[in-house]
Amino acid sequence: MMRRCALVLAIILLVSPLVLHSQIPGYGTEIDRRVDELISRMTLEEKIGQLQQYTYGVSPELQQMARTGAIGSFLNVRGAAQTNALQKLAVENSRLGIPILFGLDVIHGYKTIFPIPLAEAASWDPDLAEQAAAVAAREARAAGIHWTFAPMVDIARDARWGRIAEGAGEDPFLGSRMAVARVRGFQGGNLAAPDRVAACLKHYVGYGAAEGGRDYNTTEISEQTLRNIYLPPFRAGVKAGAATLMSAFNDLNGVPASANPFTLDHILRGEWGFDGFVVSDWNSIGELIPHGVAADCAEAALKSLTAGVEMDMESRCFNQSLSRLIEEGILPLGTLDEAVRRVLRIKYLLGLFEKPYTDPKLEKEVMLARPHLELARLMARESMVLLKNDGNLLPLARKGITVAVIGPLIDSRADLLGTWRCEGDPAQVVSILQGIRTALGDGAAILTAHGCDVTGTKGESIPSAVAAAQKADVVIAVVGEDASMSGEAASRARFGLPGMQEELLRALKGTNKPIVAVLLAGRPLEIPWAADNIPAILMAWHGGTQAGAAIADVLFGDYSPSGRLPVSWPRSAGQLPLYYNFKNTGRPTTDQKFTSRYLDIASTPQFPFGYGLSYTRFEYANLQLDRKEIGPGGQLKVTVEVRNTGEKPGDEVVQLYIRDLVGSITRPVRELKGFQRIHLEPGQARTVHFSLGSDELGFFNARNEYVVEPGEFHLWVGPNSAEGVQGKFTVR
Ligand code: NOJ
Repeated sequence: MMRRCALVLAIILLVSPLVLHSQIPGYGTEIDRRVDELISRMTLEEKIGQLQQYTYGVSPELQQMARTGAIGSFLNVRGAAQTNALQKLAVENSRLGIPILFGLDVIHGYKTIFPIPLAEAASWDPDLAEQAAAVAAREARAAGIHWTFAPMVDIARDARWGRIAEGAGEDPFLGSRMAVARVRGFQGGNLAAPDRVAACLKHYVGYGAAEGGRDYNTTEISEQTLRNIYLPPFRAGVKAGAATLMSAFNDLNGVPASANPFTLDHILRGEWGFDGFVVSDWNSIGELIPHGVAADCAEAALKSLTAGVEMDMESRCFNQSLSRLIEEGILPLGTLDEAVRRVLRIKYLLGLFEKPYTDPKLEKEVMLARPHLELARLMARESMVLLKNDGNLLPLARKGITVAVIGPLIDSRADLLGTWRCEGDPAQVVSILQGIRTALGDGAAILTAHGCDVTGTKGESIPSAVAAAQKADVVIAVVGEDASMSGEAASRARFGLPGMQEELLRALKGTNKPIVAVLLAGRPLEIPWAADNIPAILMAWHGGTQAGAAIADVLFGDYSPSGRLPVSWPRSAGQLPLYYNFKNTGRPTTDQKFTSRYLDIASTPQFPFGYGLSYTRFEYANLQLDRKEIGPGGQLKVTVEVRNTGEKPGDEVVQLYIRDLVGSITRPVRELKGFQRIHLEPGQARTVHFSLGSDELGFFNARNEYVVEPGEFHLWVGPNSAEGVQGKFTVR
């Protein structure tokens, strides 16, 4: 037996994807020559200045810092007038004229707001997400912003965590594809272009695993899980050329992420060859004191900088301590210079030395440009997930019916912008009611009622909503979360419909009218009653500037829903964390005692990862693998035929999952390893091609080596993580 194990280990393919070479667009030795020359002329104070980022409010102190070269970066300055004025102070007055780097949270748009990132991930359309990020970059750069604190690529397996809204969901493969798309969209091939900004992968790393889903909470993640689940989107983003990363707030296995030499230095720089710089999260250096790993600001600054955080966002610990640490010989000057080098490198790559200002004319031209709004509508359409459609209640007829549009969010505009609305202006948003009115045209029979507030316990308006429903042929109930209920510091232990909204739905159900529920939220909601009792449910997230128009497109059949869940949809908070790529356990779930299950609810999600309905039907057939066996470094080609067997055109997201049956460590029951969004007309069929190689078949083993292990694999190609046509193959 021992001999067999040794043999198996010997033929494991040790694929080393470890060392990457940085791909930051434009980076090369000429930049470093200029940077080194500049550093040779800088005083200690000027160097420390480059490592500081403060939030801006018009204050004489901050303006003086700009004038004297004592600040490298500001966040939260907006607009050409403000950025140019501040830049002028630095460029024309400071001794070396080093331009300031302006950073901002341009998370899902600057002025034209796209759906929240989780919704964009539900489109499973990285190309469109790339275009959306490019629009965000164009508007932001025109406003003088050089750097966005996006994309957030944290894997999130817990819907209680409010920041699930800001990422691409639970899966490392989908998350990596979206990370790459967004980095490319923000940065393009030239950071100095007038329509691109530097990206920032955040929050490095593990922030999404906050215990209990409570924001900022502690994380404990094994190195294997870190490498197999949490790191891949960061690695993919670094490989795609992301210029910066942000270190996270969380305590990671006892070493806070903002002072963690293993993740920041060993992995990011050592293994991945990252050439950009790392900014702390807001005060996350100062927070090393309450974390209990630094006694004071000086120790916090020392730990962070030596671990590999080059810029201090707002804690001011670098400002207070670095010169003393250098003077006392505690911090080597070489460490400081290397940090300055990395920051200046990005300033050069952004072209700030050549072109420090933005053109105010451009700022006026680009905001909310027609193509931007059209793209926002397309993205919002693709992001919506049809969860239920009993009896094909949707799409609704346009003519000859009376529609009751009911709920606290029917005419909200600000809430459709979701978390991080940046410069998004609620006045520019198409509300749901407005979208429906426009779709149905003048003279349409539309009744409206709010029913209740988003939160709170007042239900006096429910009877008038019921009265409106009674007069209608169909009810569109718009329910869910307002914009403040997801995002940072917005965790919810109970994440059902807030306030009296479920009571409203129950009262409407009592009318026996057909009901379509349109859910607005930054996370999946705990809605077991609605899932059982409401015939049609459309998850519309917070869809941005064009949300109302896009929702009407779907409700009245101008667009067949094509979004797929980027997260497993829980039945109950008691199931969390919940994810489709779980381990089988020694006692896999059945309905028997002494298996891994709950006594009171099913272990399965309400709706599985990858799931979403359409107005048409797709059938999968003829799964073919070009071979039954491959070598550990080989490639396997997989094809499947997908046919639209329904009556309407539509998009399908064809998904490929694998399972490595027996490994040296336990392997997930399914792992997404490929997907393609395709469009099919009624009756049309298409052969979809995938290929599997060592990037897809390997994993990090108990020794944290990336290996492809021999043995049998199962594979499924299908419409979500719980279905599909099945095949198998062997790695020799
Ligand atoms: C704190 C958040 O965690 C981070 O994502 C954001 O970029 C910074 N604040 C700056 O606003």
